[in-house]
Amino acid sequence: MRVLSGIQPSGKLHLGNYFAMMKKMIEYQEKEELFCFIVNLHATTTVFDGNKLSTDTLDAILDFFALGLDPDKSIFWVQGDVPEVTELTWYLFNFTPVGLLERSHSYKDKIAKGLKPNAGLFTYPVLMAADILLYQGEKIPVGKDQKQHVEITRDIAIKFNNLYGETFVLPEPEIDENLAVIPGIDGRKMSKSYDNTIEIFSDYKSLKKKVMSIVTDSKSIEEPKDPDNCNLFKIYSLFVDKKAQQELAERYRAGGLKYSSVKKELVDIIYNFFEPYRKKREELANNLDWVFKKMDEGAEKAREIASKTLKDVRNKVGINYR
Ligand code: ADP
Ligand code: TRP
Repeated sequence: MRVLSGIQPSGKLHLGNYFAMMKKMIEYQEKEELFCFIVNLHATTTVFDGNKLSTDTLDAILDFFALGLDPDKSIFWVQGDVPEVTELTWYLFNFTPVGLLERSHSYKDKIAKGLKPNAGLFTYPVLMAADILLYQGEKIPVGKDQKQHVEITRDIAIKFNNLYGETFVLPEPEIDENLAVIPGIDGRKMSKSYDNTIEIFSDYKSLKKKVMSIVTDSKSIEEPKDPDNCNLFKIYSLFVDKKAQQELAERYRAGGLKYSSVKKELVDIIYNFFEPYRKKREELANNLDWVFKKMDEGAEKAREIASKTLKDVRNKVGINYR
């Protein structure tokens, strides 16, 4: 089974990215054919600072390697290193009804947040479809916000296949309902673009600042509290087993619980959880030759597959005239 997913380097990677996507992807390398990539072309729709984009791209690469992604057990690359994807995007545009893009929640959310409705942002899902179809991805592990994008990909693929015959495999999203939406410190979906994230690799002081500012309700210490509707509880639960979750839920319901004590515990839990990976990340940052070599190899492997699909598509749509 070909498992494929990507992540935008539009900021530092965070707990939502880790639990909903990165962790699952890293586990898949042991049992499936894994395609994992950093989608820097997608990030150009929202990041307009070239230095920041290139720094965040390298950071995202280091994060994946540090957390255990093994370039010898997977195909791991940077989207922009395989430019075939932009050519396929062009052909797919012609199989994409404008109405389909107009209904995109992600586009509407971005516009509502004040982003300029440019064509890059509008056609973002088609580039994502090209990412998936170019490599014939079958299972796409993503958070819930990406479900519609995978559905759009299927619609485009079906239209193409109907006209030109079986060309693309139809992908299926894989969404873990328990992790579908991981809340940020303000209770909205944790997202790089909401400035509400807890980063995977921040220093202790910044981590503490973020965790201490997780929004909770204003109940007094004595009052019983509701774990089911509490961001702090949800984030804490990501790091502990069922038993520890139940114990914390009981402390909530019993009354006498201080949110600030739970937050202090959580700072150490998060910091210690990522501690071994932090050391590995530092080593990698001091060995960039190895990192770049592995990225070159990854892009080469990806490109081999990409060029096969593209050749087939070019033949079918009539670009080859010889
Ligand atoms: P962001 O919203 O921070 O820019 P991306 O769009 O790059 O994150 O998302 C990368 C992957 O992580 C996607 O599969 C996305 O669904 C998932 N993801 C991001 N944030 C969350 C979250 N808060 N809860 C669940 N999944 C998330
Ligand atoms: N749009 C995805 C996100 O914002 C990232 C992405 C780009 C992606 N191409 C992909 C995810 C292909 C899965 C498959 O999270």
